[in-house]
Amino acid sequence: MKFPKKVTIKEVGPRDGLQNEKAVVTAEDKVEWINKLSSSGMSYIEITSFVNPKWIPALADCYEVATSIDRKHGVTYAALVPNQKGLEKALMANVDEVSVFMSASETHNKKNINKSIEETYPVLESVVSEALSEGKTARGYVSTVFGCPYEGEVNVDQVLKVSEKLFEMGVTELSLGDTIGIATPNQVQVLLEQFLKRFPQDQMALHFHDTRGMAIANILASLQMGMTTFDSSLGGLGGCPYAPGASGNVATDDVLYMLHGMGIETNINQDKIIEAAQFIESALNRKLSSHSMLVQSSKC
Ligand code: HMG
Ligand code: MG
Repeated sequence: MKFPKKVTIKEVGPRDGLQNEKAVVTAEDKVEWINKLSSSGMSYIEITSFVNPKWIPALADCYEVATSIDRKHGVTYAALVPNQKGLEKALMANVDEVSVFMSASETHNKKNINKSIEETYPVLESVVSEALSEGKTARGYVSTVFGCPYEGEVNVDQVLKVSEKLFEMGVTELSLGDTIGIATPNQVQVLLEQFLKRFPQDQMALHFHDTRGMAIANILASLQMGMTTFDSSLGGLGGCPYAPGASGNVATDDVLYMLHGMGIETNINQDKIIEAAQFIESALNRKLSSHSMLVQSSKC
């Protein structure tokens, strides 16, 4: 079986990982955590979200975090931005990349960002266009790609349509989100076959949540299709508060274990990643659920 030699991991822990946490992590701890992540060799970290703090209280300190971290050369520091108001703040904080987001299913889109899909397009279009004119890059997320917590099955043509619109706006990369961790490897490959006919492989990423324990299998299935960019979150933290049943992202530490074991390069130091996971575990005051972290705690 042929696999890519090198893979890019995009760490979403400080955003997706923390957005659903009940425990208060101080801005100071978030900053220290992000600095640890950047010193592990990671090239991309999604550091926060410039959303309404009433909707996501855990990330209300977005500006403070984004302006307090050490900026390591060669690392892209990205943030989620839903609208013009978020963009203004993200630009003031000088993030490198702006990530816009929407869903392939109408109900999740409405619950998550309070707009219909049609109403969302012009909002994201102006965010992407202004971000690009300010010299930033833009990433687009499509959520509920493999299933919606409210509507069930999501039609592949609908996912393609939303994705096409995001590319037309000028996003440089599209991240396909299995928001509720419902996909199985065959479904991933069927979808990717369609996507790879329409869009370049190196402009797409996969964003798996691990609700049903399928995420690592889904990454393997994606690698077999030649995919080389994956979002993940340290220790398996994560979940969308507006998607009932959504649990953590696939754990960065477990993904690295598999990739490095298969001889696939990431440039990330696994020991430093475990140290960073232990740091956030103690800030959250609870055990993280990834397999690698369970192995660590069994050593104590
Ligand atoms: P809205 O209520 O429709 O906004 O929310 P609005 O424009 O009508 O304004 C209402 C109030 O919100 C106003 O304040 C605005 O100033 C304020 P008021 O006058 O009432 O005092 N407001 C803001 N404040 C701060 N920052 C902003 C902002 N915008 C408006 N950017 C909005 C619309 C999109 C803002 C809201 O629905 C929201 O913040 N949603 C975010 C939900 C979210 O973050 N979900 C999780 C991330 S998505 C995810 O996890 C999926 C992903 O991981 C991929 C996957 O797994 O599939 C990416
Ligand atoms: Mg997510």
